[in-house]
Formats: sequence, C-alpha cells, structure tokens
Amino acid sequence: MSNFDQEISRFGTHAVKVMQCENLDDCKEYIALGLADMDIAVAPVIREALHKVVDRSIYGYTSVDAGHTFKKSLKNWLKTRFDQDIEEEWVLYSNGSLEVLKSVLFAFTQPGDGVIIQRPVYGHFTQIIEDECHRKVQDARLLKDDKNYYTMDFDALEGQCSNPHNRVMVLCSPHNPVGRVWTADELNKVLEICRKYDIILVSDEVHADLTRFGHVHTPILKLARPTDKVIQIMGIGKTFNCAGLQCANAIIPNKRLREQVRYVHGDRGINPFSLEAQVAAYSEEGAQWLDDLNNYLDETVRQVEDYFAKELPQVKISHPEGTYILWFDFSDLGLSPDVIHEQIYNRAKVILQDGSHHDPDQGQYFQRMCYPSPRAQIMEACKRIVKALKEVL
Ligand SMILES: Cc1ncc(COP(=O)(O)O)c(C=O)c1O
Repeated sequence: MSNFDQEISRFGTHAVKVMQCENLDDCKEYIALGLADMDIAVAPVIREALHKVVDRSIYGYTSVDAGHTFKKSLKNWLKTRFDQDIEEEWVLYSNGSLEVLKSVLFAFTQPGDGVIIQRPVYGHFTQIIEDECHRKVQDARLLKDDKNYYTMDFDALEGQCSNPHNRVMVLCSPHNPVGRVWTADELNKVLEICRKYDIILVSDEVHADLTRFGHVHTPILKLARPTDKVIQIMGIGKTFNCAGLQCANAIIPNKRLREQVRYVHGDRGINPFSLEAQVAAYSEEGAQWLDDLNNYLDETVRQVEDYFAKELPQVKISHPEGTYILWFDFSDLGLSPDVIHEQIYNRAKVILQDGSHHDPDQGQYFQRMCYPSPRAQIMEACKRIVKALKEVL
C-alpha cells in the first residue's frame, strides 16, 4: 500500500530540486516545488524490482533481448492504458526525452532553422532548440481566455508552418505548464497543418499518464496516418518518479524518419536499472499505483483551488486537465514581478519556477508550481504564499 503523505527529505541526495536552497542555513524551512520531480516514494513494485537488480551484484551491458523486453512492456502499456497499437520495431530507447528531441533536431534541421513551439511552454524546449542545437524558436503562442484557459491559435500555427525555414514542430501533450489535455479535434487540426506544410511533428507526451479526473489523453500516433512524419515521445520519468533513471523512448512508425533519428541518436543498450524499473512500472501493480496517485493529485488540486478562491481570489490558476503542474497568474494583485518573486521565494520560503522561464515575453507575472508532493506540504506552501502576499497588498 502506498503512502502518498509520507515526507521524504531530498537534502543531501544531490537532488537538483532542492539545489537552490540546500546551502542555506535555514534550508530545512524551504519548500521546493519548482521542478517537475516528485517527492512521493515510487510504487513498491518498482522499488522491489530495483532491489533485485542491486542484489545481482553485477551491472553489466544488457543484450538485444533487453530491448525486446523494454519495447514489449511499452507496447502492452499503450494498449491497456490508451488503446494504442504500436509495433516494437517503431520504438527507439533513449536516456531521456530531451536527448531524443535533440537528436530529432540535429537529424532534420540545420543551424538557424526555425522550430515551432507554443508558448507558454516547458522552458527546456527553448534551451534545447536555441542553446544546445543553435536553431531558432518560432512561437505559435497559445490563446488564453479570462479564466486563464488556454487553446491553440491555429492561424498562428499555420503561419509558422507555412514558413519554409521552419521544419519541425514540438508539441507538448499534455501541456506543461498550462495543464491542457488536448482533444482529438485539436490534435487532428495540428496533424492536418503539419501534413499540409510537410512539417515533422514531435509530440512530447512524457505527462501522458498524469491526467486529472474526467480527462483522457490521446497519443498523437492514434490519430496520425501511416505516412505522416510524426514522433511520439514517452517515458516513465514523470509518471513513476524515475526521472533520474533516464529512461524514455521515441515511437516512430515512419521507417525513413526512424532510421534518420537512429543514425544521429544511436541505438544503445538499456541501463539494467531503467529496464527493470519500466517493466515494473508498466505492470498491473504499477497501473494501480498510478490510478491511486492520480486520485491523490486530483484532491490536491481541488484543495489548492478552493484555498486560493477563498483566501486570495485575485490569483488565477489555470485549471489543470493533466500533468502535476499548476500555472499561477499573479497579475491582478497590482504587485510588480520582483515583489511577487521576493514575497514567495524569500518571505514565504517557497521555491517555485518563474513564469518567464516558460514564457520569456509574457510570463513575468506567472509562477509554476509542481504539486506531486505530500499534500500537507503543498497546502503549507499555499498558506505561506498567501500570507506573504497579503503582507504587501
Ligand atoms: C514536457 C517535458 N518534456 C521533457 C521533460 C524532461 O524529460 P527527460 O528527463 O526524460 O528528458 C520534462 C520534465 O519536466 C517535461 O516536463
């Protein structure tokens, strides 16, 4: 039985999540919720599987057969969770979704080419595209209504796709940080536009398993035609709190596309820990743990939304349909971005992530909170944030 309320300290474990405050004298007073990295213990089935690998005492290379086991477990998971059919040969193992994204950009674009994204979106896309690959971000911004509900701007998207210098689109599905789970209609429109302009569509679906009550994620390849140039990226990192095990995959049915990505990325053996973690995660016990986790996260969202609605209703939160991320808009408080940051990070001692990381042009008043932590910690963070902000209103 899992205990999602159990608090496990990350200090002293080289966890990047607490890096910002680890060296402070009062580090234990901080609550770090900036990174998409769970503070909840993994499913017992994963821990037991990893123990078995440790007990072998030898951590050598894995065989081609390990690749089959890895792909078979993914194939079964996609069938049972998403009713998606894939072939094992379509799957390319990777030591991270961003690693495979980088290979896709190197395979299909030249320095200076444009890569389309939809801001506000996961800041590392920009880092990979611009800093690591020296390509250019081309933004087809999402639209936002007065309830901070985001939708796609298909005219802007078509405008960007029709530019011959833009060869690849990176879709975030479900969307980090705005929490949308795209509908089949929306995804079909994206596919149609990419098909029309011969754009390679990379769908980053690392949050696919994390859907809030009533929402269903549609894997892009369920909607794509066999000839479409589409790559679906998934992994156990977010869903099962295994990000440090660096275990992801790209599913590429189009053979030519797959060979080109494989040529750049390589086709290496799987780390034995990652292999066993994925097999355990994608089991019946793993599925049950995930269902329980999603229920727990639903209740956390309900409590956070209720709390802000009651205590500080000027703060708008985009109601999440998926992921474990909340996107806060503090622009109606009448405070400057610097004061908002100061009160939250230094006064309340809660580490979030500044919105400008995900939206350099318009994100200054936004903050991203990742909430896969024991609920008591999340609610304590919310109380401290509200108290600190009220002090300066
Ligand atoms: C949308 C998205 N893609 C990719 C990643 C990173 O995944 P990986 O560690 O597999 O590279 C994250 C991590 O937060 C993410 O939110």
